[in-house]
Amino acid sequence: MLDEVIVIGGGGHAKVVMDCICAAGDTVFGILDDNLSTNDTVLGFPVLGKTTDFEKYRNHPFLIAIGNNNIRKQFAQVLNVTWYTAIHPRAVVSRYARIGAGSVILPMAVVNAGASVGKHCIINTGAIIEHDDRIEDYVHISPAAALGGTVHIGEGTHVGIGAAVRNNITVCGGTTVGAGAVVVKNITESGIYVGVPAHRQ
Ligand SMILES: CC(C)(COP(=O)(O)OP(=O)(O)OC[C@H]1O[C@@H](n2cnc3c(N)ncnc32)[C@H](O)[C@@H]1OP(=O)(O)O)[C@@H](O)C(=O)NCCC(=O)NCCS
Repeated sequence: MLDEVIVIGGGGHAKVVMDCICAAGDTVFGILDDNLSTNDTVLGFPVLGKTTDFEKYRNHPFLIAIGNNNIRKQFAQVLNVTWYTAIHPRAVVSRYARIGAGSVILPMAVVNAGASVGKHCIINTGAIIEHDDRIEDYVHISPAAALGGTVHIGEGTHVGIGAAVRNNITVCGGTTVGAGAVVVKNITESGIYVGVPAHRQ
């Protein structure tokens, strides 16, 4: 049966997420966003109210469409609802990979065999998650970023656009890897890392 999803957040990332939900054969019932009005629509879908109105819609599955990892985590911890997991039909997800509830796998992303993706993660357009990678909860892997095999990404970390992480590397939680960075050594202290090879900003 068709899922009618409640989307938390109505910004730019939400457009991509809503498109993904529809491409997957489901639909968007409406949006809850604290900064939009009920007169607004996003991609033609109605803004139903604020996030505090969530109780009215708990018979629907929910998905948080907010790019910021910390904000996504805050909502995930407060909203006691059923989570929808969005996998775009043109993403390639191995049958031997595991995807956590509330995560989004966008078009052209690849998640290879033996990889696991935690809860409420974003695997963005064209990102590559190689075999045996372990992605913890609330992680965002940006468009065209690539992780070699057996990489471990800690909770809440953001890997920027087009960044690369060499195989067998661990990046600790709460870290930002800048756009285009190449991580060749384990990152054990959270912070912002940029450049080739990546160093602390
Ligand atoms: C790394 C990053 C977090 C730094 O953001 P910031 O702290 O606001 O940094 P600023 O833009 O103020 O730049 C500070 C300095 O770092 C440099 N810098 C910024 N981003 C850089 C990057 N990715 N690689 C190399 N150098 C970078 C700037 O050139 C600047 O250098 P300067 O002081 O010599 O002029 C950010 O630039 C970035 O890459 N974010 C990822 C964006 C992304 O992937 N978004 C996904 C959307 S889907």
